[in-house]
Amino acid sequence: MGPASFIPEQVVAQHASRESCWIIVHNKVYDITDFLDEHPGGSKIILRYAGKDATAAYEPIHPPDMISSNLPPEKHIGIAEPSASKRPKTAEEKKRELTLALRPPLDEMLNLHDFEAVAKGVLTEKAWAYYSSAAEEEFSLRENRAAYQRVWFLPRILRDVTSIDPSTTILGQKSSLPIYISATALGKLGHPDGELNLTRAAAKYGVIQMIPTLASCSFDEIVDASQPNQSLFLQLYVSRDREVTKKYVQHAEKRGVKALFITVDAPQLGRREKDMRMKFVDDGAGAKVQEGQSGIKKDQGIARAISSFIDPSLAWKDIPWFRSITSMPIILKGVASPQDAIMALEAGVQGIVLSNHGGRQLDNSRSGLENLVDIVAALKTRGPWPNPKFSVFIDGGVRRASDALKALALGASAVGVGRGFLYAFSAYGQDGVEKAIEILRDEFEMNMRLLGCRTLGELSPDMVDASALRTHAGLVPQDSLYAATYQPLRLAQSKDSKL
Ligand SMILES: Cc1cc2nc3c(=O)[nH]c(=O)nc-3n(C[C@H](O)[C@H](O)[C@H](O)COP(=O)(O)O)c2cc1C
Repeated sequence: MGPASFIPEQVVAQHASRESCWIIVHNKVYDITDFLDEHPGGSKIILRYAGKDATAAYEPIHPPDMISSNLPPEKHIGIAEPSASKRPKTAEEKKRELTLALRPPLDEMLNLHDFEAVAKGVLTEKAWAYYSSAAEEEFSLRENRAAYQRVWFLPRILRDVTSIDPSTTILGQKSSLPIYISATALGKLGHPDGELNLTRAAAKYGVIQMIPTLASCSFDEIVDASQPNQSLFLQLYVSRDREVTKKYVQHAEKRGVKALFITVDAPQLGRREKDMRMKFVDDGAGAKVQEGQSGIKKDQGIARAISSFIDPSLAWKDIPWFRSITSMPIILKGVASPQDAIMALEAGVQGIVLSNHGGRQLDNSRSGLENLVDIVAALKTRGPWPNPKFSVFIDGGVRRASDALKALALGASAVGVGRGFLYAFSAYGQDGVEKAIEILRDEFEMNMRLLGCRTLGELSPDMVDASALRTHAGLVPQDSLYAATYQPLRLAQSKDSKL
């Protein structure tokens, strides 16, 4: 490319409509007008960046070479004039850099809440809003933590607890802890290496990672970063185009993924208002021009913008089709009722995750922990328990080994952790995830010793008192560590706010 292919920012800015849409990604200018309607995330999201540098928005969501390898060469218009990308740092960027430099040393992290506090400082406002937000009043988000405070231990004594082993198998795969890394989308919003931070740390510590459909890194990048004996699971959002889903699932199986977690609680993405509000802030005046031309709504937030491909027609009748395209164990992620748990068992899947999606979907849904008690009782009426062919997992609000031990005592096979690891790598990259796993491992060892359990097999329902689990109203002690980082909705900033 000769010097003539340098394109000034002002020229790119003139192509900011559906009729002519140019964007800058990694300093290159692309004409994506003809591609707008083919974009899996919809054209609206691209039009937000029409005529502008879209790198920051593109990067967390797409594999690096996606645009350059998918657009025909004649649509690679040229190189953005340096002034287009070398804008001065915003006040938020400067503040973030400073906070990153002033992070406490990793050794000062004593629990998973500490990572959340650091992440809150170092994440961009948009990333924090996307990661921390939950649906509507965020009742379910808070309940996920509160439920654990209503279950108490009844430890056993004098059992020679010299050596403790918290290892287990999850869906036939070895795991050093009864915890797996649950799928959380868009890892690069938190750290340039995104999900690879999790993959590498999980390999080192023998923990299983669930790869999200909406990962920032490509599926293959993640698998390529894994070690030969490392077990990976796959989280699936089912596409309206079943051929796309089939290809994706079969590719994953070929690459050695060990289980398929189909997300069943997200036929539409929940209304996460912090996330929606942040989008409004960032669009600023520029969005007004585009809005007139394309009908963009400014209130979608990241989550909704990227999820338009998800098929809301997914139903029980589709389960045999999934069975026909893969021999991986199939687990339904996002089950809440005993009726559905029994239907899942009868449908022949290998397990369920009792989850309210970290409070991000249907607000006011009960916690997985509370549902666990009813669901285990229901499953006991349908055959042997524990059932070696049907695993019950739970997630939501797990931040301590003690949380996991309570869930296991009540019948869970293992528990998923989402935000805990997400915040760990947002704050400290791979080192953060490693430290988080070490903290959990130490917590398991101590809690199991004090409970009188040498192995997880020795945990039993009579080691917990769950009689208060159904008590919801105001009787729970304040969790001040968690409350210190919880961000009330009213403090979320809107564009004109001076808060
Ligand atoms: C930022 C974020 C993104 C998530 N993305 C997905 C996703 O793409 N697919 C999915 O099935 N669950 C997703 N989840 C839900 C998690 O898998 C898990 O159910 C939840 O985070 C557990 O709650 P916790 O964050 O309190 O541990 C996401 C959660 C968060 C916080």
